[in-house]
Amino acid sequence: MLRVDQGESTSEFYGQSHAAEQAPLALAEAQHLWEPSNPYLNTASYGLPPRPGWEALQAALADWRGGRTSWEHWGESTEGARAAFARLTGVAVSRVTVGATVSELVGLVAAAVSDGTRVVVPDVEFTSLLFPWMVHADRGLEVMTVPLHRLAETIDARTGVVAFSAVQSATGELADLDAVLAACRHHGTLTVVDATQACGWLPLDGSRFDVVACGAYKWLMSPRGTAFMSVSDELLERLKPLHAGWYAGENPHASYYGPPLRLAASARRLDTSPAWFSWVGTQPALELIERIGIETICEHDLSLANRFRTGLGLEPYGSAIVSTEVPGAERRLEQAGIRASVRGGRLRTSFHVYNTQADVDAVLEALLG
Ligand SMILES: Cc1ncc(COP(=O)(O)O)c(C=O)c1O
Repeated sequence: MLRVDQGESTSEFYGQSHAAEQAPLALAEAQHLWEPSNPYLNTASYGLPPRPGWEALQAALADWRGGRTSWEHWGESTEGARAAFARLTGVAVSRVTVGATVSELVGLVAAAVSDGTRVVVPDVEFTSLLFPWMVHADRGLEVMTVPLHRLAETIDARTGVVAFSAVQSATGELADLDAVLAACRHHGTLTVVDATQACGWLPLDGSRFDVVACGAYKWLMSPRGTAFMSVSDELLERLKPLHAGWYAGENPHASYYGPPLRLAASARRLDTSPAWFSWVGTQPALELIERIGIETICEHDLSLANRFRTGLGLEPYGSAIVSTEVPGAERRLEQAGIRASVRGGRLRTSFHVYNTQADVDAVLEALLG
């Protein structure tokens, strides 16, 4: 049988949502969908794929290997994932653009701010949220770094942008979102939030911020190579679609060749072409998170993180990431076959949906036993 791809089509661009109108799923039941070999406490580095994401990816890879299908439906996963991210963060899908990395998406925003803008960033911020501003030093962008707890008080009339992670990558520290937002509202400062270490476990209302950028390969448990960014309608007008290609077209399938420039009216005009297979694994992971419920996941992750903290004699805290100093931790965990990481000389453990109380007890035993 002759199989052809759709070629240029003038039909409407495929629907934006695969609406996850699926039955809610209890967390205990959902936990069977992951298969960590050993206690895995390293979601802050990368998350583990749930079975639906893994299986969708394997099927797409097999189709690719055998040349069995056309490619359009791989791209459709991007639209399903975009819609799921919009629902998870409470923003309109028309505000969400997609790419491969956080830094490339934040770079679009950095390119749009005026010469001489002052940008305030926490001092141990992950560099994908820092370097995109610093590369504009030649046109006077001034990047000022301060300790996270001083962020809100530092924002003043001179501050054009504040860029910070909702949850710090190295330490798990939480930003005081209300205080930062209040200061930004008072001074007319643009808020750029990186939700990479938050989205997937921490309920976050993205509509409160001008920009929310998020990589999906950690707490959203997706393959590397998928990222989202929501932008306010006002800011969208100021962003130049610097990476525009066919996929940024109003109808991507009618945007393969030649002028005129015909970009999407929505934030899709900032898109880059999707890395198909990564998106195939992203959509099911996000839709599964919706089925379990972000509040349920948050409660679960925090109860494990705080069980761990209590075992170490630490006060409870509101983060799924725990950073702590335990002498010889790296060697002890390696010997016990437990995966975590070290950041800034401190042990960083992360607790997510697939972790259990038994994991916490195993890590405590390995560290203290
Ligand atoms: C807060 C934060 N943002 C972004 C990233 C990843 O950025 P990128 O997608 O640019 O590699 C990480 C990875 O550790 C991170 O912790």
